[in-house]
Amino acid sequence: VAEPPPPGRRFADLDGTLEEHRAGAISAEVAAARLVLAGHRPAPLADRLARTPGGEPVAGVLRAHPDGAERLALAARALRADAPPGDGVEQQRCVYERLAAIDPAIAVAAYSFGDAALLDRATEELVGLLRRWDLLGPGASVVDVGCGIGRLAARIAPRAGRVLGLDLSPAMLAEARARCGHLPGVRFELADGRSLRPAEDGSADLVLAVDTMPSARMAGADAAEALQAAMARALAPGGRILVMNYSYGGDPEADRRHVRAWARACGLRVLRDGTRDLSLWDGRAYLLADPRGT
Ligand SMILES: C[S@@+](CC[C@H](N)C(=O)[O-])C[C@H]1O[C@@H](n2cnc3c(N)ncnc32)[C@H](O)[C@@H]1O
Repeated sequence: VAEPPPPGRRFADLDGTLEEHRAGAISAEVAAARLVLAGHRPAPLADRLARTPGGEPVAGVLRAHPDGAERLALAARALRADAPPGDGVEQQRCVYERLAAIDPAIAVAAYSFGDAALLDRATEELVGLLRRWDLLGPGASVVDVGCGIGRLAARIAPRAGRVLGLDLSPAMLAEARARCGHLPGVRFELADGRSLRPAEDGSADLVLAVDTMPSARMAGADAAEALQAAMARALAPGGRILVMNYSYGGDPEADRRHVRAWARACGLRVLRDGTRDLSLWDGRAYLLADPRGT
């Protein structure tokens, strides 16, 4: 959840969001972030939630992060009131340049409210998933598409051989280089949004796209399909693609159909089809495998 929702879509409903939280489908952090992204002002929202049955944990997140909640509200307002110029890939670049200027941690994970410890907890949980699914290993070559501030590259590098982080936004890349450009085996490069250059075809054991595909899809079907084909071409025999979140459209079945069509077109196998495997973040996992050599 880094993008403000289109008016009237998915995140706007307080009761529905609270219901999802009460049912255990989303964490208090994700619920709080959704509501702020939907346009609720953080302080009155916290008061209202505190008076609503089951709303106290969500109110608690907002009260624990008053400054972060205000910055998230500012990011949502800035993007809603003043859509970035241009279209497609350039527009998405501009979105992330703006978000990075407001708060780079919020730009990569709105539910972190810019809190480094909270973001670390979410990153650890995700890297735990990569390890459980056996996606990392000594000598592995990883391409992190839409690497943002490099939070995953930093955690993955000690458990892999090389990590190439690619991102559309120079501001995000500057942040990534400052935070972890010094780590052995880690490199960050500017992406063109449609390819994985400078990664070579057939070279990657793992291509990661964590909350990147929604933005790639907002850049338009042509750019998204070019990027998807490039991700498949980048795989070494037996390599894997892990996409966390395919779109912000709120229709998991439609996303599954798109991912299956991508897999068919590129000769990949679908190993996970939009599962929710994390407790802090509600990202859905799509795991695709190159069938050669397995
Ligand atoms: C929500 S952030 C997630 C960052 C990172 N994956 C993480 O989870 O910390 C999405 C990132 O993808 C980048 N991005 C969006 N579309 C991209 C594309 N087509 N190619 C490369 N990077 C892209 C944005 O600039 C932004 O840094």
